[in-house]
Amino acid sequence: MAKDSLSVVDNRTGRTYELPIEDGAIRARDLQQMGLVSYDPAFGNTASCRSRITYIDGDAGVLLYRGYPIEQLAERSTFLETAYLLVKGELPNAQHLAQWTHNITMHTIVHENIKNFMDGFRYDAHPMGMLVATVGALSTFYPEAKLIHDPDSRRIQTHRLLAKMPTIAAFAYRHATGMPYAYPDNDLSYTGNFLNMMFKVTELKYRPNPVLERALDVLFILHADHEQNCSANAMRSIGSSQVDPFSALAGACAALYGPLHGGANEAVLRMLQEIGSVANIPAYLQRVKAGEVRLMGFGHRVYKNFDPRGTVIKRLADQVFEVTGRNPLLDIAMELERIALQDDYFRERRLYPNVDFYSGIIYQAMGFPVDMFPVLFAIPRTAGWIAQWLEMVQDEEQRIARPRQIYQGPVQRDYVAIDRRAADAA
Ligand SMILES: CC(C)(COP(=O)(O)OP(=O)(O)OC[C@H]1O[C@@H](n2cnc3c(N)ncnc32)[C@H](O)[C@@H]1OP(=O)(O)O)[C@@H](O)C(=O)NCCC(=O)NCCS
Repeated sequence: MAKDSLSVVDNRTGRTYELPIEDGAIRARDLQQMGLVSYDPAFGNTASCRSRITYIDGDAGVLLYRGYPIEQLAERSTFLETAYLLVKGELPNAQHLAQWTHNITMHTIVHENIKNFMDGFRYDAHPMGMLVATVGALSTFYPEAKLIHDPDSRRIQTHRLLAKMPTIAAFAYRHATGMPYAYPDNDLSYTGNFLNMMFKVTELKYRPNPVLERALDVLFILHADHEQNCSANAMRSIGSSQVDPFSALAGACAALYGPLHGGANEAVLRMLQEIGSVANIPAYLQRVKAGEVRLMGFGHRVYKNFDPRGTVIKRLADQVFEVTGRNPLLDIAMELERIALQDDYFRERRLYPNVDFYSGIIYQAMGFPVDMFPVLFAIPRTAGWIAQWLEMVQDEEQRIARPRQIYQGPVQRDYVAIDRRAADAA
């Protein structure tokens, strides 16, 4: 009997099976010998890969990128340095960071046809819908991106994706507001340039407020990766078909668009607006407890005590509000948090504010419209998606994603001619 193994007695046959345990896991495929599959809707307890990128301990509130605590990166790193860390595995030295920054900065401009492509959207198109479609369209501009086994091709697509996401994101916003597209300014930092492309009007040179530029950079660091979440899983799953990274990343963006994932901070803002005043909070919480609505920005599949990103964000909010003035929704959010954290419903279910609870209020104070919130999540998450994709592409154990199912439909039956079907047939 292997030292680390699980003995399973199959009562149907009386046979005992030894399932090897490696790294705290049994292989679902070992269940095949018993004629069993594992059933795990939403992959709640299934490891789909081995990964060296991000570590989360949900009970302890720990989030590490390549071993470095998120709090230290938020305090001392920059988004581009963190992106390097995620993608390449180590912090860069000064020369490598300069080269990486240069490589990404040199790819910020998009082909003019991308502008025409984006012009085709309706005037009120949601910027996230535009982002999903435009990132997917990039694959037609760079057909060599399909060479996913070529390290040089992977490297250049990585630079392109990190560089062009802010440009496409800002163009989507300008389209919706009817403003002319503002071209990248490569003299500015990654986030400084993004603010330039978003908010530049007629001034010859846009100068970002350094506090807001840094705050956005920290928010980008906090959102850069979060191991096997819904969109990372989409990135890996789509990428496992060996499609180019632009197409896979469009799918990851689409996954992020949903209100339970990247759309949550937008949903938080709308919820706070709907609540309207501190006096209305108790009635709203009654609706939450009755199961009519969810308290958006609360709860997490993994963090069950606190979300370490939420703690950093709360501090950041104070710095931003010193520049922008206080967002009136903050009072509602803080009171909502205070009451909910004392309430048995939330305590018993271990529901705490997550990263999205305060990020929307900060973004709004900085001048971003609510529709842009999921887009602001997608830009930095691109670093994580790429890191996850690169790891998957180079992992010899990975094959095309193809889960099993438990079939519960009708058994085989014969086709019925249309004139012989029951009148009330579906
Ligand atoms: C994040 C989220 C999808 C995780 O969901 P999950 O791990 O599948 O948790 P479940 O849906 O199983 O919820 C467990 C229990 O808590 C409740 N619950 C979870 N999140 C809740 C919320 N935000 N408001 C009210 N109740 C909530 C569920 O109703 C369930 O209660 P029950 O046991 O009485 O049925 C969920 O907490 C949620 O919808 N949060 C709001 C959206 C959000 O902020 N998303 C951003 C994540 S970063």
